[in-house]
Amino acid sequence: MELVDYTRANSFCADPEGVETTFTRNDFGKDFYWGTATSAFQIEGAAADYGRGPSIWDKFTKLPGKIKNNACATRACDHYHRYEEDLDLLKTLGFTSYRFSLSWSRIFPDGTGRINPEGVAFYHRLIDACHERGIEPWITLYHWDLPQALQDRGGWESRQILNWFAEYVSFCATEFGDIVKKWIVLNEPMAVAALGYTSGLHAPGRKGLHRFLPVVHHLALCQAEGGRLLRQLVPGAYVGTTFSCSPVLPHSPSPRDVRAAKRLDALLNRLFVEPTLGMGYPTDAFPFLKNIRYFMKPGDAEKLAFDFDFIGLQNYFQVVVRHSWKKPLLWAEEVKPTGTRTAMGWGVAPEGLYKILTQFGAYEGIKELIISENGAAFHDEIKNGEVHDPQRIGFFRDYLENVLRARQEGVPVNGYFAWSLLDNFEWAEGYDARFGLVHVDYATQKRTIKSSGYWFAEFLA
Ligand code: NOJ
Repeated sequence: MELVDYTRANSFCADPEGVETTFTRNDFGKDFYWGTATSAFQIEGAAADYGRGPSIWDKFTKLPGKIKNNACATRACDHYHRYEEDLDLLKTLGFTSYRFSLSWSRIFPDGTGRINPEGVAFYHRLIDACHERGIEPWITLYHWDLPQALQDRGGWESRQILNWFAEYVSFCATEFGDIVKKWIVLNEPMAVAALGYTSGLHAPGRKGLHRFLPVVHHLALCQAEGGRLLRQLVPGAYVGTTFSCSPVLPHSPSPRDVRAAKRLDALLNRLFVEPTLGMGYPTDAFPFLKNIRYFMKPGDAEKLAFDFDFIGLQNYFQVVVRHSWKKPLLWAEEVKPTGTRTAMGWGVAPEGLYKILTQFGAYEGIKELIISENGAAFHDEIKNGEVHDPQRIGFFRDYLENVLRARQEGVPVNGYFAWSLLDNFEWAEGYDARFGLVHVDYATQKRTIKSSGYWFAEFLA
């Protein structure tokens, strides 16, 4: 493997891109967690190797037209073979925590039953390599890549997933619980229900509103049960789960716009957190959710609750909505953002992070909050061996400033994970949208730290 000296002095050092920052790492306190986040399917590659079974994303990416440029993640960032180099990079950038996910089908190729020892050994190597570098591993158990074998049996629409998931969680907790103490049960369950099983834009590409509520309910039950299993099986575990969340603002003060914003807020921000807090589903603002009772069994209401040690928030943008008769059910339509947008078309809104932190901070039952993802995609280009991304530096600085503001006002936010360490496979967007602090040339797999990466190295030093 080519050895690269990432510590070389280069034109970015000291004050990368001249972006002025008025706060320091110390302002966040010495116990604040600083990390980057990735997920297995988006970076690992080695998709059909070393005994890994296919996941729903392997199948979905092979369907023409589902992914931009028909990209697939068979190789992705080849992290499976390059994890040591990648962890060196993480360390060079100054981070001390690393959030990654386990590929369920690398461990259980058929979803349940038979274990793949090579997959288990890989995660041991990865975790050991973190510890050797003084990096604390944070494991996400489910980051969207359901084993295809389980999708063939109904996937998240089937209540049997409760058993399949419990088997998977119990195995991982027992296998890795001695060496990993930070655990995340689910990554953005809303995306699974809305994109995977309603719009069909994500794997497994199932379309239809009738799928939404059973999938939500099964995810919510697995979320709480996963938490219980981790607490029981991993002594000293710090157990959390993560949500996508975006402040929802009414376009005007008119009662109809305000009600539209409340409905969307219930869906985007309250749907998965309130059941864990013992508050049930937010049917008050969005009565459609009452239909979830058809999928509930006796005892479920209590099983939905679990006192997580932390809630992970993943915020990228905020949403402005107005009432609309054109959109049945929600009766709300988004007003397109003005101002700067990222390569995902998302409006840059740093204050949105402050707003959502304050909103979640107001729940009495939440003990701690972690920003488990935040970042921006741009169409970065490599020129003369360097990647200049001042826009991303500005993004991180402004969003971090809002995390600090919330923290100083008493919101219990204790960590920040940048999305992402590397450019990677951005689901339906393929490789077009680059989110990394480190640029990846997919043809050669060469890594190049972007100026935003150097900015973090300076900030965290
Ligand atoms: C949400 C997801 O957790 C992650 O997989 C995705 O790449 C980023 N946000 C950016 O869209």
